[in-house]
Amino acid sequence: MKLLQNSLLVSFIAIFLTPAYYGEEIIGGHVVKPHSMPYMVSIQTFEEDQYKHKCGGVLIKANWVLTAAHCKRYLDTSKMSQVVLGAHSFSQNETEQTLGIARLIPHPNFSRETVENDIMLLKLKKSAKINKYVNLLKLPQGEVKDVKPGTCCTVAGWGITNANSETASDTLQEVIIKVMDLKICKATKYPKPTLVVTKDMICAGDPKGKKDASMGDSGGPLICKKKYTGIVSYGDNETIKPGIYTFLSNKYLAWIKKSLGADLTKERY
Ligand SMILES: *[C@@H]1O[C@H](CO)[C@@H](O)[C@H](O)[C@H]1NC(C)=O
Ligand SMILES: *[C@@H]1O[C@H](CO)[C@@H](O)[C@H](O)[C@H]1NC(C)=O
Ligand SMILES: *[C@@H]1O[C@H](CO)[C@@H](O)[C@H](O)[C@H]1NC(C)=O
Repeated sequence: MKLLQNSLLVSFIAIFLTPAYYGEEIIGGHVVKPHSMPYMVSIQTFEEDQYKHKCGGVLIKANWVLTAAHCKRYLDTSKMSQVVLGAHSFSQNETEQTLGIARLIPHPNFSRETVENDIMLLKLKKSAKINKYVNLLKLPQGEVKDVKPGTCCTVAGWGITNANSETASDTLQEVIIKVMDLKICKATKYPKPTLVVTKDMICAGDPKGKKDASMGDSGGPLICKKKYTGIVSYGDNETIKPGIYTFLSNKYLAWIKKSLGADLTKERY
């Protein structure tokens, strides 16, 4: 975060969209101080002889990850997938923990068409070892209030760092963006005509159009005033259009609690 404040001349974090427009990457951002976000998760799928980063996520319990429901497309049972914790640079991986995924719990009302309820829980096969490199990010506690337009928030991910690339960033990047009035997103023409912007979403971006999440950033956290506030959900390849984030509203926090609670009563820990 400090690093971010010092570097106003941010790199270009773009939200890199997959062909279906989903996915986000950091455009116009900069490299995160290594391991300053120990809760960051890389969700990966085996393709062409190696695991490739597909989506971000956040470790909320030692064996639970919160991400975006649209990331499910990378995790269907025909694909080998894993989560990587404790990473900064994928090519220098001494601090990483790799864990399998036991269960996917997408929000039951997630819609690919409207992109509503783009939130998903992943239960891991084993609990992560909490250490200097791997730690939890707390979910908001108590009653959550709407985030005021103008609030500066950080979004982080290993997504593409420029709109012309399709390769994930080797290092974790972050960018600061501004929350905008939801009306701006409602009035924006996105390439997905079926998209419905609701109050359970946050609209955020760079008024100058230089900073954005991009392909590969999907599922990662939006952090406002040091609090976990949203999930990277939707954007398009034009950074001038604000990105859309799933807002960790009271509705979703109740769903998470219920989903984890049901799980806890079923199994012993
Ligand atoms: C670490 O990275 C090297 C080089 O990319 C790779 O060969 C190795 O499998 C990786 N190890 C883990 C645990 O991911
Ligand atoms: C999903 O939508 C149905 C119908 O609107 C509603 O009754 C249900 O509570 C929703 N589920 C969740 C988990 O929000
Ligand atoms: C965004 O994608 C559209 C359609 O694929 C393309 O025509 C346009 O040039 C792209 N814009 C940028 C900034 O890459």
